[in-house]
Amino acid sequence: MKRIKKWAMLGLLLAGVLTSQARSLDDVKKDGKINIATEGQFAPFNFFQGSKLSGFEIELAELVAKKMGVTIEWKALGFDALLAGLRQDRWDLVIASHGITEERAKAVTFAEPHYCSGGAIVSLDPAIHRVADLTGKTVSVQTGTTYLDNVKKLSGVKEVKNFPQDTDARGALLTKRVDAWVTDKFVAAIAISSNPNAGMKLGDFVFVERIAAAVAKGNGSLVQGYNKALAEVMADGSYATLSKKYFNEDVRCR
Ligand code: ARG
Repeated sequence: MKRIKKWAMLGLLLAGVLTSQARSLDDVKKDGKINIATEGQFAPFNFFQGSKLSGFEIELAELVAKKMGVTIEWKALGFDALLAGLRQDRWDLVIASHGITEERAKAVTFAEPHYCSGGAIVSLDPAIHRVADLTGKTVSVQTGTTYLDNVKKLSGVKEVKNFPQDTDARGALLTKRVDAWVTDKFVAAIAISSNPNAGMKLGDFVFVERIAAAVAKGNGSLVQGYNKALAEVMADGSYATLSKKYFNEDVRCR
């Protein structure tokens, strides 16, 4: 019995030593590199242009990292893996259009928001554009998103079909497997303008949200360093220029 206890104690100790720790702002600065994870399937925010990551959030993170005095080591993964990887210290920061929610804030620490938007209705049927029009209808959304949570809350919706990627949720609408697709308003606007003959129409917001990057829960120094750099980018005109380039407007939260 005593022996078992000893081994158990040793095991606990070892686990403690082997468990990696989130890197502080100083660790990251000393290394000169910050590991940032994103998805890469959510144009115009984060997407692949050939083999290169691109988009508003990619370019914004580059501006912020520059102010922090570090370069970015990018990783692209499935949306579902991103916040979980922070807890395992697989990367320092995530930027992938996450809305700030109470539920997520239990598991990660959110930075200041870098844009404000919301989940909007997209349909091929002009009679489906308001939330009330979703009654009795089927809706596609991306798995693990606030779109899924918020559409599920609508009592009249007949069925919510979820897909690992938002582009698949869009595909479900285009092939008429669902009556509506709920996604980010700006993602919807780009999808509509780049597929002008598809007949997609943008409807109302289902909900609005503040979008922010996230770090491991309690990594205060890193989030403060990021927030300070983000505030500088927002103050010196470079955020406004970047936002106009992608959206023709300034998408910061007001
Ligand atoms: N804004 C939504 C959310 O917070 C969707 C984010 C989807 N992001 C992505 N990279 N696919 O869940």
